[in-house]
Parts: sequence; C-alpha cells; structure tokens
Amino acid sequence: MKRPPPCCLITGATGGLGRAVVEAFHSAGFHTIVTSRDQAALEHLAERLGGRVTPIAADLREPADVRRLAAGLDRLDVVVAGAGRTVRDSFGSGDEPLEDWRDAVLVNIFGTAAIARVTLPLVAAARGTMVLVGSVTGRAVVPGDLYSVTKHGVSALAEALRLEAEAAGVQVCVVQPGLIDTPMVSLGRKTRSMMTPEAVAAEILRLATGDHPFQVSEIVLRPLPARQNPR
Ligand SMILES: NC(=O)c1ccc[n+]([C@@H]2O[C@H](COP(=O)([O-])OP(=O)(O)OC[C@H]3O[C@@H](n4cnc5c(N)ncnc54)[C@H](OP(=O)(O)O)[C@@H]3O)[C@@H](O)[C@H]2O)c1
Repeated sequence: MKRPPPCCLITGATGGLGRAVVEAFHSAGFHTIVTSRDQAALEHLAERLGGRVTPIAADLREPADVRRLAAGLDRLDVVVAGAGRTVRDSFGSGDEPLEDWRDAVLVNIFGTAAIARVTLPLVAAARGTMVLVGSVTGRAVVPGDLYSVTKHGVSALAEALRLEAEAAGVQVCVVQPGLIDTPMVSLGRKTRSMMTPEAVAAEILRLATGDHPFQVSEIVLRPLPARQNPR
C-alpha cells in the first residue's frame, strides 16, 4: 500500500517567512496544514500550490480557535510555529496602544505555547519535530524592546518543551534568525544584509527532515555582511 505523504502544520503561513516555509515543505512532498487569521489568503495559497494543502484559519490569541484548529488534525510529523508580531514603540517613546503590546505577548508566547501543547500528542505519535521560530533578539536583552522579551519567552518555551518531550522521541528546536526580508521589517530597517525567507525556510526544512544523530535544539541564523550578500 502506498504510504501517505508526511504531514506538517505551519503557523504564520501567510507571512513572509511562513509562505516560504510552506513552499519548501510542499516541494519536499509534505501535506501542509496552513494557518493564520486570513482565510482568503490561506485559500489562495492552497489554490496556488494545487493540492496537499489544507487551510484552517485561526487566531492564536484565542483558546477556542486553537482548540478548533487542533480538532481538524489527525496526524503530524512536523510543526513549524512561525506566527508572530512585532511592537513598534519602546517603554519611553511613542504612543502605540497597550492592546498591541498585549497582542504581541499573546501571539508570540501564548499562541506558540498553545500550538505546542495541542499538537504534542500527534507529533509524539510520529516521533516528529517541532520548530519554534524565535529571533536573535531573544538571545540578548534589547533596550526598551518588548518584542525581544517575547522572543526570550519563545527560547525558554522551546527548552521547557524539549526537556519534557525528548523522552517521547520528539525533537524540539528554536530557530533564531536575524533580519529576514519580509513585511514584518519596516522599510526604515531594511538593509542589504538581510536573509531571504527562502534561505531561512530551506534551513528549517533541512532541520526537520535531516537524519541527525543528535538533538539540534537551537539554530542561530545571521545575515552575511552586505558586501558578501549574493543579492
Ligand atoms: N522578519 C524578520 O526579520 C524576523 C527575524 C527573526 C524572527 N522573525 C520571526 O519569524 C516569524 C515570521 O515573521 P515574518 O517576518 O514572516 O512576519 P510576517 O510577514 O508579519 O508574518 C507573520 C505571520 O503571523 C501571523 N499572525 C499574526 N498574528 C496572528 C494571530 N493573532 N493569529 C494567527 N496568526 C497570526 C500572520 O498572519 P495574519 O496576520 O493573517 O493572521 C502572518 O502569517 C515571526 O515569529 C517573527 O517574529 C522574523
């Protein structure tokens, strides 16, 4: 009997990095379950890839949405938890609404934790891999930057999850990229030394599908200096 394709769940699938991750896993033969809040964009992505893509919209700030998403899953080899958002202002500057700060904490930390929790039984059954997308800003404290604080949370979350899930044969890795050329990066912060989403996605695919004789629990990806960047 023909084996079904491996299956992965990708959150933040309509974002700059997420789309590239979906395309990489799809090209590698995976059935991809894609999620974000934007049902129309998810359906458009599924249509463009033409098969082996299941769109399920969910707002990861909402427990009910996370439960509904989980209810639609029956098998998972890989989870890539990439949904995230930034904040604009620091403690001492700007007038960004507190609601935006709450959303960043909810999406980046609660949403990532909730996805890990509801998918762990399926990933454990497959002895599969969970990749949490953190950031280099989660490695050192950045003055005034709440986004960096949330990404410290993602790093800690990945380690807490890894320590609990390793006995079940689940690989857990936090990927900590530097600047990637996506809509998340404001025009003013764009430089020539950014990574392409495709290059970062290829690394995530390699991590999740490689036959590693060890646990890869953390990967830091930094752009090449501008003069070495091929673009
Ligand atoms: N770009 C960079 O330089 C960079 C560097 C390091 C790490 N990262 C991390 O990489 C990941 C992807 O970033 P990106 O640059 O691709 O950002 P992006 O283009 O802004 O994409 C963010 C994704 O998260 C989804 N999302 C946001 N709020 C959500 C919510 N409440 N519920 C469900 N999904 C939600 C968005 O979809 P909807 O808005 O349609 O829901 C979108 O698909 C993030 O975790 C980010 O922190 C990015």
